[in-house]
Amino acid sequence: MADKPISFARGAPSLDIVDVDGLREAAERAFTEDPGGTVAYGTSIGYVPLRAWIAEQHGVDPARVIVTNGSMQADAFLFDTLVGPGDAVIVERPTYDRTLLSLKNRGAAVTAVELEPDGIDVAAVERLLADGLRPKLAHIIPNFQNPAGYTLSREKRERLLALAADYDFTIFEDDPYVALRFEGESLPRMLDLDPEHVVYASSFSKTVCPGIRVGYLVGPEELIDRIKVLATNTYISPSMVSESIVNQFCRSGALDRSIATVKEALQKRAATLAATLTRELPEARFVAPQGGYFMWVELPEGADVDAIFAEAKERGVLIVKGTDFLMEGGENTFRIAYSGVTESEIEEGVKRLAEAVRAAAPGVVSG
Ligand SMILES: Cc1ncc(COP(=O)(O)O)c(C=O)c1O
Repeated sequence: MADKPISFARGAPSLDIVDVDGLREAAERAFTEDPGGTVAYGTSIGYVPLRAWIAEQHGVDPARVIVTNGSMQADAFLFDTLVGPGDAVIVERPTYDRTLLSLKNRGAAVTAVELEPDGIDVAAVERLLADGLRPKLAHIIPNFQNPAGYTLSREKRERLLALAADYDFTIFEDDPYVALRFEGESLPRMLDLDPEHVVYASSFSKTVCPGIRVGYLVGPEELIDRIKVLATNTYISPSMVSESIVNQFCRSGALDRSIATVKEALQKRAATLAATLTRELPEARFVAPQGGYFMWVELPEGADVDAIFAEAKERGVLIVKGTDFLMEGGENTFRIAYSGVTESEIEEGVKRLAEAVRAAAPGVVSG
């Protein structure tokens, strides 16, 4: 493996698109303007001024918001509160591997429903419900889905909400990528369309930086109150230092500038990725993303992603196997994250990847 490794595996930003100077300045202000609040234990609901800012952005009462250590923690609190062993949960197929693991660890009865380029197959959800499935929760990543990069259409958002109301289940709208749209029109949040049946999570990992570990949940007040107790018993409070820095970063306008920087880079990277894949690996099928970090690549049937992964690794390229995001199937698929690589790395990485695919699947793609 002589070549410099290129990782398409990590859903994280490259350092050049993180506003490190802006973060340093925000930290300075956090310690200067509110030293007491920044260094204290704080409360389980998070740093109060940041909670207020988030509530204002969503136009909701702060009592409906809890700020957590990353949205992963928000997810864990929500699952611990709503999902017990044997409870039915609908997920997208494919979906975020950590969600699958979290649900499995809690003993949930997971039903995966096909994800289409315009979002989960709502007709299939409807059939399952008509056949007697009674889910507690449907986990949906509506924008620039992880791992597929697809976005749920407005029509499907509305149909899903109607089903949640008819069959009385909660939609968990897991939305860390919403701010990263670089093409097309934004779609309404399901939370805004029906606050009664939706619990919403988002994160500053993709807009500020992942190391800050700040995410949040918006939901019915009664649910947030239950999660508050769980949060207190888990960690007393989340990191006030991080949240105070994020609060300064958001309120100073640095957040908007950071989002603009990230989106511009992602748009160029996604375009380079699509063009290079089309040229180097014409057998690859994909939908060009309109935002976010990820592209889902499908090869002809018969391609073996384990062999492709190994050949790619030999050539210094990392991908994530599609099979990691599914309970079964997906052997001819993989995920490419273009968030952490420059355009020239993308070109070089895709060339090596195409070579790896030809070496691993000579009968499936043309040499
Ligand atoms: C769909 C989804 N949900 C949640 C998370 C966790 O994000 P955080 O860094 O806020 O914990 C991620 C991170 O990649 C994600 O893709």
